[in-house]
Amino acid sequence: MVEQDFIPKYNYKLTIESGKFTWQSPSNIALVKYWGKKEHQIPKNPSISFTLNTCKTTTTLKFEKKEVPTELFSFDVFLDGKKQDDFKPKIETFFKQIESYLPFLKEYHFVIETSNSFPHSSGIASSASGMSALALCLMSIEKKLNPDITQEYFNKKASFLSRLGSGSACRSIEGDLIFWGIHKEIGGSSNLFGIKYPYQVHNNFKNYQDTILLVDKGEKQVSSTVGHNLMHNHPFAQQRFEQANNNISKLIEVFKTGNLKSFIEIVESEALTLHAMMMTSLPYFMLMKPNTLKIINAIWSFRNQTGLHICFTLDAGANVHVLYPENEIKQVLKFIQNELVAHCQNGHYICDRIGFGAKNLQLNTEY
Ligand code: DP6
Repeated sequence: MVEQDFIPKYNYKLTIESGKFTWQSPSNIALVKYWGKKEHQIPKNPSISFTLNTCKTTTTLKFEKKEVPTELFSFDVFLDGKKQDDFKPKIETFFKQIESYLPFLKEYHFVIETSNSFPHSSGIASSASGMSALALCLMSIEKKLNPDITQEYFNKKASFLSRLGSGSACRSIEGDLIFWGIHKEIGGSSNLFGIKYPYQVHNNFKNYQDTILLVDKGEKQVSSTVGHNLMHNHPFAQQRFEQANNNISKLIEVFKTGNLKSFIEIVESEALTLHAMMMTSLPYFMLMKPNTLKIINAIWSFRNQTGLHICFTLDAGANVHVLYPENEIKQVLKFIQNELVAHCQNGHYICDRIGFGAKNLQLNTEY
């Protein structure tokens, strides 16, 4: 599919005066990281993520036809019931990016009411869950205007639109393992939207656990857009993009065979490479905190002592995602509580696990 396939070809069959839709969309955690992008949110390398279950955004989009059409976008945003004008520029930019794909946007006034299952200042990025929840609400309007849309098109376009809001958001529409970006061994893969990982996945990865240790809840030191831009003219960029492609090839085998040892090696190397890229760019950044390193070292020694399959990954911040298989929950949680929670800010952590994607709360379905 190409961009043009997401532009409605005919005028919508129906009209709608007003209404509201509510979607709940999860966050996701990348195993192979997206870091570096071209124009129009096209990734420099493919990425793959676990969709999460507990960390999510719920968004209600109310819409009402303007009495007099205007050339401006018209909307208000509320977070947890409070007007949030500082979210407006990001949403305005998003609307501009997606306007040609949703030609009805300027016909309505929107009220966007959003809330996150995780605390606002937890250092957990809400852009993936937030942008995908909003994109899904907008797709529900499109479906109302054109009821012939298939579920497959609905999901693809929701992912396509989410990507234009925030790259990683395109991996939050479905679950449980989502692939984004073109890779030669993954049929149907696209730079434009995420797809469900199409090959065999061993039972070892079913209901995989992710306990998120909140090491630093402060504002991000580097915004993702600034971060991605650091990969332009980065001395190691080309090798990094190749490495990501190779890691995907290795993961295809790992998912088939259930080889947890190799899984751990790839996932931890990806996390450290992401941070290595930040440390070796100009300007350079160090987003890990002393407690991030303490946690990583504790995980390594616990793994050596017990032979359990616990590992970590990181996103562009100091928090640590602790990943482990379902059958090791008991021992790993005990270890986390006894040894790792002490390194979390105010002892805060979130127990999450693999999830299956966004939910339409009106219909209580995935469509
Ligand atoms: C480190 O999706 O937040 O989490 O496209 O600029 O919104 P934008 O970036 P964003 O970048 C996520 C980067 C990452 C890795 C990943 O999720 O793959």
